[in-house]
Amino acid sequence: MRKSLKKIDFGFKKVNINKKEELVNNIFNSVSSKYDLMNDLSSLGFHRLWKQELINWIAPQSNQSLLDIAGGTGDIAKLFMKSGGFSADIIDINYNMLINGKSNNPKIRYIVGNCEKLPIKNDTYDRITIAFGLRNITNRQLALNEIYRVLKPGGRFICLEFSLVNDNIIKKLYDLWSFKIIPKLGKIITNNEEAYKYLIESIRMFPDQDELSLMFVKSKFERVKYKNLSQGIASLHSGWKF
Ligand SMILES: C[S@@+](CC[C@H](N)C(=O)[O-])C[C@H]1O[C@@H](n2cnc3c(N)ncnc32)[C@H](O)[C@@H]1O
Repeated sequence: MRKSLKKIDFGFKKVNINKKEELVNNIFNSVSSKYDLMNDLSSLGFHRLWKQELINWIAPQSNQSLLDIAGGTGDIAKLFMKSGGFSADIIDINYNMLINGKSNNPKIRYIVGNCEKLPIKNDTYDRITIAFGLRNITNRQLALNEIYRVLKPGGRFICLEFSLVNDNIIKKLYDLWSFKIIPKLGKIITNNEEAYKYLIESIRMFPDQDELSLMFVKSKFERVKYKNLSQGIASLHSGWKF
């Protein structure tokens, strides 16, 4: 008898655990050239404010190295360098996402790789970030363990991700915008409505603020805390390695 494979969420669907990575990769391959434009339209520009908040929380310094995980078109690494960081490496599993955002800054390096198995030695970076990446990853706890491993002692990790909205009126408007408008925008701009349905559904399936904090603790991060952005539409989680 064939052994049945473990299932995992892919948006509101369940798929075999060994299929999610490929499905996610197909999505980002198909939207990569319009990814930045869609981010601006679908978030009405808010993603820029949230990313700036992340950078403000990090407060980059001229001796700090950053690893931005699932860095895509590189917004976080570019902001980090603009705000005075020393160097920024971006790792993403999807080559097309990286190439579509490639910067000429020689202090930004690009790595194609899976954050569940980082090709990086222990205790390497002062700061590590992940923005809107964690929910797309198959084994998130494994990714958090890897992040902890490559962070230097004394280093800080910050995750920006969509979260649980804490205001009923905002939640109603946000659901309307998310389920009715964003997939249609996705169809017009990227010709891939399904990709944006997945991205919206995956937000609803992602752990809430407290559950994500517990996952940080499970991966040994200390001084774990979070702050809500725009009534919890997104949140920033921070943890330290000592
Ligand atoms: C929604 S995009 C976020 C991009 C960028 N961080 C931003 O905030 O605009 C998610 C990214 O996660 C990447 N990704 C998904 N699974 C990954 C994995 N296992 N390892 C590394 N990157 C991954 C995707 O290729 C994609 O570029």
